[in-house]
Amino acid sequence: MKTNKQVLLRKRPFGLPGKDTWELVENNLPEPKEGEFLIQCEYISLDPAMRGWINDTKSYIEPVQINDVMRAGGVGKVIASKHPDFKEGDFVYGQTGVQQYVLSDGKGYHKINPNLAPLPVYTSTLGMTGMTAYFGILEVGELKEGDSVLVSGAAGAVGSVVGQIAKIKNCKVVGIAGGADKCKYLIDELGFDGAIDYKNDDIKGKLKEFFPKGIDVYFDNVGGEILDMALSRLAFHARIVICGAISQYNNTTPIKGPSNYLSLLVNRASMKGMVVFDFAKDYGKASKQMGQWMMEGKLKSKEDIYEGIENFYETFFKLFSGEKLGKLVLKVSEE
Ligand SMILES: NC(=O)c1ccc[n+]([C@@H]2O[C@H](COP(=O)([O-])OP(=O)(O)OC[C@H]3O[C@@H](n4cnc5c(N)ncnc54)[C@H](OP(=O)(O)O)[C@@H]3O)[C@@H](O)[C@H]2O)c1
Repeated sequence: MKTNKQVLLRKRPFGLPGKDTWELVENNLPEPKEGEFLIQCEYISLDPAMRGWINDTKSYIEPVQINDVMRAGGVGKVIASKHPDFKEGDFVYGQTGVQQYVLSDGKGYHKINPNLAPLPVYTSTLGMTGMTAYFGILEVGELKEGDSVLVSGAAGAVGSVVGQIAKIKNCKVVGIAGGADKCKYLIDELGFDGAIDYKNDDIKGKLKEFFPKGIDVYFDNVGGEILDMALSRLAFHARIVICGAISQYNNTTPIKGPSNYLSLLVNRASMKGMVVFDFAKDYGKASKQMGQWMMEGKLKSKEDIYEGIENFYETFFKLFSGEKLGKLVLKVSEE
Protein backbone atom coordinates (compact mmCIF):
# COMPACT_ATOMS: atom_id res chain seq x y z
CA MET A 1 0.00 0.00 0.00
CA LYS A 2 1.23 3.48 -0.93
CA THR A 3 2.07 5.91 1.87
CA ASN A 4 2.56 9.66 1.97
CA LYS A 5 5.99 10.90 3.10
CA GLN A 6 5.69 14.35 4.65
CA VAL A 7 8.14 16.83 6.15
CA LEU A 8 6.72 18.33 9.36
CA LEU A 9 7.96 21.41 11.20
CA ARG A 10 9.02 20.34 14.70
CA LYS A 11 10.90 23.38 16.06
CA ARG A 12 11.34 27.12 15.67
CA PRO A 13 15.03 27.60 14.92
CA PHE A 14 17.24 30.36 16.23
CA GLY A 15 19.75 31.34 13.53
CA LEU A 16 20.58 28.78 10.88
CA PRO A 17 18.04 25.92 11.12
CA GLY A 18 19.42 22.55 12.24
CA LYS A 19 18.32 19.24 10.76
CA ASP A 20 16.04 18.58 13.77
CA THR A 21 13.91 21.60 12.80
CA TRP A 22 11.92 19.19 10.61
CA GLU A 23 10.99 15.52 10.74
CA LEU A 24 10.17 13.15 7.90
CA VAL A 25 7.09 11.07 8.70
CA GLU A 26 5.06 8.51 6.76
CA ASN A 27 1.25 8.49 6.81
CA ASN A 28 -1.57 6.75 4.98
CA LEU A 29 -2.58 8.16 1.63
CA PRO A 30 -5.68 10.39 2.04
CA GLU A 31 -8.80 9.79 -0.09
CA PRO A 32 -10.66 12.66 -1.78
CA LYS A 33 -14.16 13.42 -0.52
CA GLU A 34 -16.86 15.13 -2.63
CA GLY A 35 -15.39 18.43 -3.99
CA GLU A 36 -11.76 17.33 -3.46
CA PHE A 37 -8.96 15.86 -5.53
CA LEU A 38 -5.70 14.07 -4.71
CA ILE A 39 -2.43 15.36 -6.13
CA GLN A 40 0.74 13.37 -6.51
CA CYS A 41 3.41 16.03 -5.91
CA GLU A 42 6.26 15.88 -8.40
CA TYR A 43 8.52 18.90 -7.78
CA ILE A 44 8.72 21.21 -4.77
CA SER A 45 10.03 24.76 -4.95
CA LEU A 46 12.72 25.53 -2.36
CA ASP A 47 12.75 29.21 -1.48
CA PRO A 48 14.62 31.47 0.97
CA ALA A 49 11.17 32.68 2.14
CA MET A 50 10.70 29.26 3.80
CA ARG A 51 13.17 30.41 6.43
CA GLY A 52 10.91 33.36 7.29
CA TRP A 53 7.75 31.22 7.32
CA ILE A 54 9.01 29.17 10.28
CA ASN A 55 9.59 32.22 12.51
CA ASP A 56 6.77 33.03 14.89
CA THR A 57 6.69 36.68 13.87
CA LYS A 58 4.24 38.97 12.09
CA SER A 59 4.82 38.90 8.35
CA TYR A 60 2.92 39.01 5.05
CA ILE A 61 1.77 35.42 5.67
CA GLU A 62 0.92 33.32 8.77
CA PRO A 63 3.83 31.28 10.13
CA VAL A 64 3.86 27.51 9.59
CA GLN A 65 2.62 25.94 12.84
CA ILE A 66 4.65 23.38 14.77
CA ASN A 67 3.74 19.82 13.62
CA ASP A 68 2.21 21.09 10.37
CA VAL A 69 3.50 20.03 6.96
CA MET A 70 6.24 22.46 5.88
CA ARG A 71 4.82 25.03 3.47
CA ALA A 72 6.13 25.00 -0.12
CA GLY A 73 4.92 25.69 -3.62
CA GLY A 74 4.87 22.64 -5.85
CA VAL A 75 3.66 21.04 -9.05
CA GLY A 76 1.95 17.69 -9.38
CA LYS A 77 -0.54 15.47 -11.13
CA VAL A 78 -4.17 14.86 -10.15
CA ILE A 79 -4.47 11.12 -9.54
CA ALA A 80 -8.04 10.92 -8.18
CA SER A 81 -10.82 13.49 -8.26
CA LYS A 82 -14.31 14.19 -6.96
CA HIS A 83 -14.04 17.85 -8.00
CA PRO A 84 -15.98 19.20 -10.99
CA ASP A 85 -13.11 21.36 -12.35
CA PHE A 86 -10.05 19.14 -11.84
CA LYS A 87 -9.89 15.71 -13.45
CA GLU A 88 -7.51 12.77 -13.20
CA GLY A 89 -4.43 13.46 -15.34
CA ASP A 90 -4.52 17.26 -14.92
CA PHE A 91 -1.26 18.92 -13.86
CA VAL A 92 -1.49 21.67 -11.25
CA TYR A 93 0.54 24.25 -9.34
CA GLY A 94 -0.23 25.32 -5.78
CA GLN A 95 0.93 25.34 -2.17
CA THR A 96 1.42 21.58 -1.97
CA GLY A 97 3.75 21.61 1.02
CA VAL A 98 6.77 19.35 1.36
CA GLN A 99 5.02 16.00 0.90
CA GLN A 100 4.41 13.39 -1.76
CA TYR A 101 0.61 13.63 -1.92
CA VAL A 102 -1.85 16.35 -0.99
CA LEU A 103 -5.63 16.72 -0.94
CA SER A 104 -7.10 19.93 -2.32
CA ASP A 105 -10.50 21.56 -2.77
CA GLY A 106 -9.01 23.58 -5.65
CA LYS A 107 -8.44 26.80 -3.68
CA GLY A 108 -5.09 28.33 -4.64
CA TYR A 109 -4.44 25.76 -7.39
CA HIS A 110 -4.28 26.34 -11.12
CA LYS A 111 -3.72 24.02 -14.05
CA ILE A 112 -0.43 23.99 -15.91
CA ASN A 113 0.49 22.50 -19.27
CA PRO A 114 3.52 20.16 -19.24
CA ASN A 115 3.58 20.24 -23.05
CA LEU A 116 4.45 23.95 -23.07
CA ALA A 117 7.33 23.74 -20.58
CA PRO A 118 8.89 21.03 -18.38
CA LEU A 119 7.17 20.76 -14.97
CA PRO A 120 10.07 22.26 -12.89
CA VAL A 121 9.90 25.48 -14.95
CA TYR A 122 6.45 26.09 -13.40
CA THR A 123 8.15 26.40 -9.98
CA SER A 124 10.75 28.69 -11.51
CA THR A 125 10.58 31.19 -14.37
CA LEU A 126 6.89 30.45 -15.05
CA GLY A 127 6.20 30.28 -11.30
CA MET A 128 6.55 32.43 -8.21
CA THR A 129 10.19 33.40 -8.64
CA GLY A 130 9.74 34.38 -12.30
CA MET A 131 6.70 36.50 -11.36
CA THR A 132 8.76 38.18 -8.63
CA ALA A 133 11.45 39.08 -11.14
CA TYR A 134 8.97 40.32 -13.74
CA PHE A 135 6.86 42.58 -11.53
CA GLY A 136 9.78 43.53 -9.31
CA ILE A 137 11.97 44.94 -12.04
CA LEU A 138 9.31 46.25 -14.43
CA GLU A 139 6.68 47.65 -12.05
CA VAL A 140 8.33 48.23 -8.68
CA GLY A 141 11.70 49.13 -10.24
CA GLU A 142 9.98 51.14 -13.00
CA LEU A 143 12.66 49.96 -15.42
CA LYS A 144 13.32 52.20 -18.42
CA GLU A 145 15.29 51.43 -21.61
CA GLY A 146 18.95 52.30 -21.15
CA ASP A 147 18.94 52.16 -17.33
CA SER A 148 22.07 51.00 -15.51
CA VAL A 149 20.92 48.09 -13.37
CA LEU A 150 22.57 46.28 -10.46
CA VAL A 151 21.11 43.00 -9.16
CA SER A 152 22.30 40.95 -6.19
CA GLY A 153 21.66 37.23 -5.76
CA ALA A 154 22.16 37.40 -9.51
CA ALA A 155 22.84 33.72 -10.21
CA GLY A 156 19.73 32.70 -8.25
CA ALA A 157 16.16 32.10 -9.32
CA VAL A 158 14.89 35.69 -9.08
CA GLY A 159 18.13 37.55 -9.81
CA SER A 160 18.99 35.65 -12.98
CA VAL A 161 15.59 36.45 -14.48
CA VAL A 162 15.70 40.09 -13.33
CA GLY A 163 19.02 40.58 -15.13
CA GLN A 164 17.82 38.91 -18.32
CA ILE A 165 14.63 40.99 -18.43
CA ALA A 166 16.72 44.13 -18.01
CA LYS A 167 18.93 43.00 -20.92
CA ILE A 168 15.81 42.42 -23.05
CA LYS A 169 14.89 46.05 -22.24
CA ASN A 170 18.31 47.23 -23.48
CA CYS A 171 19.73 48.10 -20.10
CA LYS A 172 23.27 47.78 -18.83
CA VAL A 173 23.23 44.96 -16.27
CA VAL A 174 25.74 44.02 -13.60
CA GLY A 175 25.15 41.08 -11.27
CA ILE A 176 26.53 40.29 -7.83
CA ALA A 177 27.08 36.62 -7.03
CA GLY A 178 29.31 34.37 -4.93
CA GLY A 179 32.34 32.93 -6.73
CA ALA A 180 34.11 33.19 -10.07
CA ASP A 181 32.11 30.39 -11.72
CA LYS A 182 28.78 32.07 -11.04
CA CYS A 183 30.15 35.41 -12.29
CA LYS A 184 31.38 33.77 -15.49
CA TYR A 185 27.96 32.15 -15.93
CA LEU A 186 26.23 35.55 -15.67
CA ILE A 187 28.35 37.02 -18.43
CA ASP A 188 28.87 34.02 -20.76
CA GLU A 189 25.47 32.33 -20.46
CA LEU A 190 23.04 35.08 -19.48
CA GLY A 191 24.59 38.02 -21.33
CA PHE A 192 25.16 40.31 -18.34
CA ASP A 193 27.55 43.21 -19.00
CA GLY A 194 29.51 42.63 -15.82
CA ALA A 195 29.64 40.63 -12.62
CA ILE A 196 30.97 41.18 -9.12
CA ASP A 197 32.11 38.27 -6.96
CA TYR A 198 31.07 39.49 -3.51
CA LYS A 199 33.19 36.82 -1.82
CA ASN A 200 36.47 37.88 -3.45
CA ASP A 201 36.17 41.25 -5.22
CA ASP A 202 36.48 44.77 -3.86
CA ILE A 203 32.74 45.44 -4.20
CA LYS A 204 32.95 49.22 -3.72
CA GLY A 205 35.77 49.52 -6.26
CA LYS A 206 33.88 47.40 -8.80
CA LEU A 207 30.69 49.44 -8.34
CA LYS A 208 32.65 52.59 -9.07
CA GLU A 209 34.18 51.01 -12.18
CA PHE A 210 30.87 49.59 -13.54
CA PHE A 211 28.68 52.58 -12.64
CA PRO A 212 30.65 55.79 -13.32
CA LYS A 213 27.34 57.71 -13.59
CA GLY A 214 25.60 55.79 -10.80
CA ILE A 215 23.04 53.01 -10.50
CA ASP A 216 19.53 53.71 -11.85
CA VAL A 217 17.92 50.54 -10.46
CA TYR A 218 19.26 48.31 -7.71
CA PHE A 219 17.31 45.05 -7.31
CA ASP A 220 18.19 43.84 -3.83
CA ASN A 221 17.91 40.17 -2.93
CA VAL A 222 20.50 40.10 -0.15
CA GLY A 223 20.35 43.23 2.06
CA GLY A 224 23.11 43.89 4.59
CA GLU A 225 26.43 45.46 3.60
CA ILE A 226 25.83 45.05 -0.14
CA LEU A 227 22.68 47.18 0.10
CA ASP A 228 24.65 49.84 1.94
CA MET A 229 27.37 49.86 -0.72
CA ALA A 230 24.80 50.12 -3.53
CA LEU A 231 23.20 53.08 -1.71
CA SER A 232 26.50 54.94 -1.84
CA ARG A 233 26.55 54.72 -5.67
CA LEU A 234 23.05 55.84 -6.69
CA ALA A 235 22.22 57.94 -9.74
CA PHE A 236 19.69 60.78 -9.61
CA HIS A 237 16.10 59.43 -9.23
CA ALA A 238 17.37 55.87 -8.65
CA ARG A 239 14.94 53.14 -7.62
CA ILE A 240 15.82 50.39 -5.15
CA VAL A 241 13.62 47.30 -5.10
CA ILE A 242 13.65 45.55 -1.73
CA CYS A 243 12.83 42.02 -2.80
CA GLY A 244 14.68 40.09 -0.10
CA ALA A 245 17.57 40.10 2.34
CA ILE A 246 18.95 36.58 2.42
CA SER A 247 22.15 37.70 4.17
CA GLN A 248 19.99 38.56 7.20
CA TYR A 249 17.55 35.63 7.38
CA ASN A 250 19.59 33.54 9.81
CA ASN A 251 20.68 36.45 12.01
CA THR A 252 20.86 35.81 15.72
CA THR A 253 21.08 39.55 16.38
CA PRO A 254 18.56 42.21 15.21
CA ILE A 255 18.81 43.27 11.56
CA LYS A 256 20.72 46.53 11.15
CA GLY A 257 19.22 49.08 8.77
CA PRO A 258 21.32 50.64 6.01
CA SER A 259 23.46 53.49 7.27
CA ASN A 260 23.79 55.18 3.84
CA TYR A 261 20.07 55.89 3.54
CA LEU A 262 20.56 59.65 3.22
CA SER A 263 21.77 58.93 -0.30
CA LEU A 264 18.03 58.57 -1.07
CA LEU A 265 17.54 62.20 -0.07
CA VAL A 266 20.55 63.55 -1.94
CA ASN A 267 19.66 61.66 -5.12
CA ARG A 268 15.86 62.07 -4.86
CA ALA A 269 15.81 58.29 -4.99
CA SER A 270 13.26 55.79 -3.71
CA MET A 271 13.42 52.43 -2.01
CA LYS A 272 10.32 50.23 -2.13
CA GLY A 273 9.47 46.80 -0.76
CA MET A 274 7.49 44.25 -2.74
CA VAL A 275 5.56 41.03 -2.18
CA VAL A 276 4.89 39.06 -5.33
CA PHE A 277 1.39 37.91 -4.25
CA ASP A 278 0.14 41.49 -4.68
CA PHE A 279 0.50 41.01 -8.46
CA ALA A 280 -1.45 37.72 -8.62
CA LYS A 281 -4.22 39.07 -10.85
CA ASP A 282 -1.66 39.74 -13.60
CA TYR A 283 0.34 36.47 -13.42
CA GLY A 284 -1.33 35.23 -16.61
CA LYS A 285 -0.17 38.22 -18.63
CA ALA A 286 3.37 37.95 -17.23
CA SER A 287 3.59 34.17 -17.85
CA LYS A 288 2.55 34.67 -21.45
CA GLN A 289 5.28 37.27 -21.99
CA MET A 290 7.93 35.20 -20.19
CA GLY A 291 6.95 32.09 -22.19
CA GLN A 292 7.29 34.07 -25.40
CA TRP A 293 10.75 35.36 -24.44
CA MET A 294 11.77 31.79 -23.62
CA MET A 295 10.54 30.52 -27.00
CA GLU A 296 12.41 33.33 -28.75
CA GLY A 297 15.62 32.30 -26.94
CA LYS A 298 15.85 35.65 -25.11
CA LEU A 299 15.24 34.25 -21.62
CA LYS A 300 16.91 31.17 -20.16
CA SER A 301 15.33 29.27 -17.28
CA LYS A 302 17.81 27.36 -15.17
CA GLU A 303 16.64 24.82 -12.60
CA ASP A 304 18.98 22.96 -10.25
CA ILE A 305 17.06 19.79 -9.41
CA TYR A 306 17.78 17.41 -6.52
CA GLU A 307 15.95 14.19 -5.73
CA GLY A 308 14.31 12.60 -2.73
CA ILE A 309 12.05 14.03 -0.04
CA GLU A 310 14.45 12.54 2.54
CA ASN A 311 17.06 15.02 1.24
CA PHE A 312 14.87 18.05 1.98
CA TYR A 313 17.11 19.51 4.67
CA GLU A 314 20.43 19.11 2.82
CA THR A 315 18.88 20.57 -0.33
CA PHE A 316 17.18 23.49 1.45
CA PHE A 317 20.53 24.33 3.06
CA LYS A 318 22.03 25.00 -0.40
CA LEU A 319 20.03 28.25 -0.50
CA PHE A 320 22.29 29.61 2.21
CA SER A 321 25.56 27.91 1.26
CA GLY A 322 25.09 29.01 -2.36
CA GLU A 323 25.95 25.51 -3.67
CA LYS A 324 23.45 25.69 -6.51
CA LEU A 325 22.74 27.61 -9.70
CA GLY A 326 19.41 29.11 -10.72
CA LYS A 327 16.19 27.86 -9.17
CA LEU A 328 16.49 25.20 -6.46
CA VAL A 329 13.96 22.38 -6.91
CA LEU A 330 13.38 19.08 -5.11
CA LYS A 331 11.83 16.10 -6.87
CA VAL A 332 9.67 14.38 -4.25
CA SER A 333 7.84 11.78 -6.32
CA GLU A 334 9.41 8.33 -6.44
CA GLU A 335 8.27 7.43 -9.97
N1 LIG B 1 9.45 39.76 -2.09
C1 LIG B 1 8.99 38.69 -2.70
O1 LIG B 1 7.81 38.57 -3.04
C2 LIG B 1 9.97 37.59 -2.97
C3 LIG B 1 9.61 36.47 -3.75
C4 LIG B 1 10.60 35.52 -4.02
C5 LIG B 1 11.87 35.66 -3.49
N2 LIG B 1 12.16 36.73 -2.70
C6 LIG B 1 13.48 36.96 -2.16
O2 LIG B 1 14.36 37.08 -3.25
C7 LIG B 1 15.67 36.65 -2.87
C8 LIG B 1 16.18 35.63 -3.88
O3 LIG B 1 15.33 34.49 -3.83
P1 LIG B 1 15.58 33.27 -4.82
O4 LIG B 1 14.43 32.37 -4.72
O5 LIG B 1 15.99 33.80 -6.14
O6 LIG B 1 16.83 32.56 -4.12
P2 LIG B 1 18.18 32.19 -4.84
O7 LIG B 1 18.82 33.50 -5.19
O8 LIG B 1 17.89 31.23 -5.92
O9 LIG B 1 19.02 31.44 -3.72
C9 LIG B 1 19.62 32.13 -2.70
C10 LIG B 1 21.03 32.63 -3.12
O10 LIG B 1 21.40 33.66 -2.23
C11 LIG B 1 22.80 33.76 -2.18
N3 LIG B 1 23.21 34.01 -0.78
C12 LIG B 1 23.05 33.17 0.27
N4 LIG B 1 23.53 33.74 1.39
C13 LIG B 1 24.02 34.97 1.01
C14 LIG B 1 24.64 36.04 1.71
N5 LIG B 1 24.88 35.96 3.02
N6 LIG B 1 25.00 37.15 1.01
C15 LIG B 1 24.76 37.23 -0.31
N7 LIG B 1 24.17 36.25 -1.03
C16 LIG B 1 23.79 35.14 -0.37
C17 LIG B 1 23.37 32.42 -2.68
O11 LIG B 1 24.03 32.67 -3.90
P3 LIG B 1 25.60 33.08 -3.94
O12 LIG B 1 26.34 31.85 -4.30
O13 LIG B 1 25.63 34.14 -4.98
O14 LIG B 1 25.93 33.56 -2.55
C18 LIG B 1 22.12 31.58 -2.95
O15 LIG B 1 22.22 30.78 -4.08
C19 LIG B 1 15.55 36.12 -1.46
O16 LIG B 1 15.93 37.12 -0.56
C20 LIG B 1 14.07 35.83 -1.33
O17 LIG B 1 13.63 35.88 0.00
C21 LIG B 1 11.23 37.69 -2.45
